[in-house]
Amino acid sequence: MIKNELSTAEIVKKAWRKRIVIPGFNIPYLPMMEPVVRALHDTDTFGLIMVARLEWIKFESGSMKSIRDEYEKLKDLRYTRLHLDHVPVIDEDNLLTDFESIIAEAIELGYDSVMIDGSRLSLSDNIMKTRRIVELAHTAGIAVESELGAVMGHESGPLPPYEELFASGKGFTSPQEAKRFVEETQTDWLSVAIGNIHGAISAATRTEKKIEARLAISHLEIINESVNIPLVLHGGTGIAKEYLMQSFKQGIAKINIATAIRQPYEKLMNTSVTAAQEAVYNEMLDIVHNQLEIAGSADRILKD
Ligand code: 13P
Repeated sequence: MIKNELSTAEIVKKAWRKRIVIPGFNIPYLPMMEPVVRALHDTDTFGLIMVARLEWIKFESGSMKSIRDEYEKLKDLRYTRLHLDHVPVIDEDNLLTDFESIIAEAIELGYDSVMIDGSRLSLSDNIMKTRRIVELAHTAGIAVESELGAVMGHESGPLPPYEELFASGKGFTSPQEAKRFVEETQTDWLSVAIGNIHGAISAATRTEKKIEARLAISHLEIINESVNIPLVLHGGTGIAKEYLMQSFKQGIAKINIATAIRQPYEKLMNTSVTAAQEAVYNEMLDIVHNQLEIAGSADRILKD
């Protein structure tokens, strides 16, 4: 039997146990949501519809409420849930945010899960602030994603050369810290840094092709053994497929995808919104069928 009344927490846990990845798709422009939901429906794939704080500040998603309203029109509970992506405590421009009231508002609006990103804080500060959000969200019965380690790329300055970054392991999530973080915060899902990077979002660089990232799979394996909760891979665009496939066997239960669907939309949005939406739909089919190979996942995840 297909249970479509399950919470996001329950669905992610089921997927994690079955080693099926759940993609989350960022919506920086409201008309992108329709082709994303349509593609999930047409391929029988379960996914999360997401918006991050920077997408209503630096892009055109409007607000958490406008995303929620659009989602209410389009949602199909067999295939979708609504997730609040990155609400940083310190943002990509190094400014403190009003993270607690943003997350409280999202819960009020009916978001099914939320993310607090305290990754720019010290470990103890990150633990303290994440724990507060976990208490808030769990009281409302919803799941929390948090982050430990540095997934770079959203900052406006130039990124250090990728090969250097990867070889040094600088910013990678420490398995020991992750164990302590998960125990003390009771976070439901943990976003990890293992060589993944975000696509650039500064106005000067957002149209650039993302470099192909790799993943430190043996490092992920150690994190996975230390925490034993669903792990999240940010920067999901353009990671070499062999690494992706291995990561799904090592605890990655959710992958965030933004740049891959945003760039085709932006290329056409000033010519024709309909054409831009079709470009998103076609990219979605490629992601689901070829890049992640998860067509049909709704059935596989949700059935007993
Ligand atoms: P990409 O832009 O690389 O797909 O990353 C998306 C992301 O991690 C959003 O949280």
